Amino acid sequence: MNRRTTALSAATALAVSLALGLTGCSSDDVTADNAKGKPKLEVSGAFMPQPVMDMAGGFLTIKNDSATADKLLSVTSGLSDDIQIHETKNQKMQQVTSFDIPANGELKLERGGSHIMFMGIKQKPKQGDKVDIELHFEKSDPIKVTLPVEAPNHNPKQH
Ligand code: CU
Repeated sequence: MNRRTTALSAATALAVSLALGLTGCSSDDVTADNAKGKPKLEVSGAFMPQPVMDMAGGFLTIKNDSATADKLLSVTSGLSDDIQIHETKNQKMQQVTSFDIPANGELKLERGGSHIMFMGIKQKPKQGDKVDIELHFEKSDPIKVTLPVEAPNHNPKQH
């Protein structure tokens, strides 16, 4: 009897929290979906640390100044035919299929965190060089970005 009551109230609590969670979520989604406008994305702080091996990292911030969320799906560049997007979990990086760019928020790709990964680069750019890339999104038109190549240990957060 006692056990059943506990199970029931646990189920009720779960149902309530699910309902609350869903309510919170769906009101956000409705706002985003109703705002028919495209996401307004702005890229800043882009750079590539001078690569030391045949792969390179890319870092930048994408600010979304709109009520419509978007996703970063892929990156292309003449530097590599295999450019991946990676997140870092427990100091290990793993490939992901997309990064969320929240409405009225930003996606930060920074050292020690999520980043663009250029595999098997065709040449090694040096500090002072520039690397052109193109970002591809779920909703927005592609954005071309030029990454200045910085020192191998460059990290703007440490400034
Ligand atoms: Cu990586």
